[in-house]
Amino acid sequence: MTWRVESAPRSIDAQRAYGRGESDDRLKLRDTRDATIGVSGPRLGDARIESRVPPVEWWFKLERSIGVVRKHAGAASRARIGTRGRAAIEARRERTVAYKAMDFSGLKGMRGFSDQLLEDHFSLYEGYVKNTNELLEKLSLLMDGGGGGSAEQAELRRRLAWEWNGMRLHEFYFENLGGSGRIDTSGELHAKIETDFGSLDRWRQEFQAIGGMRGIGWTILYYDPLGDRLLNLWINEHDSAHAAGSAPLLVMDVWEHAFFTDYRTDKARYIESFMANVEWRVAEKRLAAGRRLEAMAVNA
Ligand SMILES: [Fe+2]
Repeated sequence: MTWRVESAPRSIDAQRAYGRGESDDRLKLRDTRDATIGVSGPRLGDARIESRVPPVEWWFKLERSIGVVRKHAGAASRARIGTRGRAAIEARRERTVAYKAMDFSGLKGMRGFSDQLLEDHFSLYEGYVKNTNELLEKLSLLMDGGGGGSAEQAELRRRLAWEWNGMRLHEFYFENLGGSGRIDTSGELHAKIETDFGSLDRWRQEFQAIGGMRGIGWTILYYDPLGDRLLNLWINEHDSAHAAGSAPLLVMDVWEHAFFTDYRTDKARYIESFMANVEWRVAEKRLAAGRRLEAMAVNA
């Protein structure tokens, strides 16, 4: 299904009149098959969906409509919040630091991973960082313009969780690669794995079996500080089924882009290569940090 802008205030004068609520022009969006929706109202805060809601992807892709919304958000913001309010918003924006993509190029040359695969993966990761920053900016503009109750806000907010987790999980993933694949058998993590899973082999069987599940997502060894136990979990895509309040110790990407270039459909062989390159010292540090999260318990 595709969507296109059917009509919108086109001239500068018409857009200004529309922003002041003095125009009957409407931004109309048409499903190329049959359905039409209209986003109407003199200000963003009054926007309403008159017919059925387009798919989530639509909100993200249709930059042109976002641009129109931005104009109205800006006009509404200027009209409503005044000079002091605008100064506060600008000050807040200056304090807010955009996320920056981390450099993982030191992983190139890693056994079992071609440079092409890694470079493509780094590019994808950088896209998540860029999209996260853009979504935060768009949502900030919407909120400044009184769009807190809008459909745009709701859909972009859902999208933000997807992009943000995509960004952060890739950072965890690249950070726990580049090692020897050998865990320190005298360390705390090894001892904890033996306690909770019976043996390292038993844990590894489960972790790899989860990674082999059909679908796209992540396999994560979590430490739950409140229950003091380890958990192997499947994360669907980027944002579904995380363990709240728990620390991700070992993160494995099992989206197809993580292995297809080198392994085609042989995901099992990719998982073996991943395990052979785990930097367990990073996982050890994460366990130590995760144990400090116990203070999050209300009754701790
Ligand atoms: Fe990935």
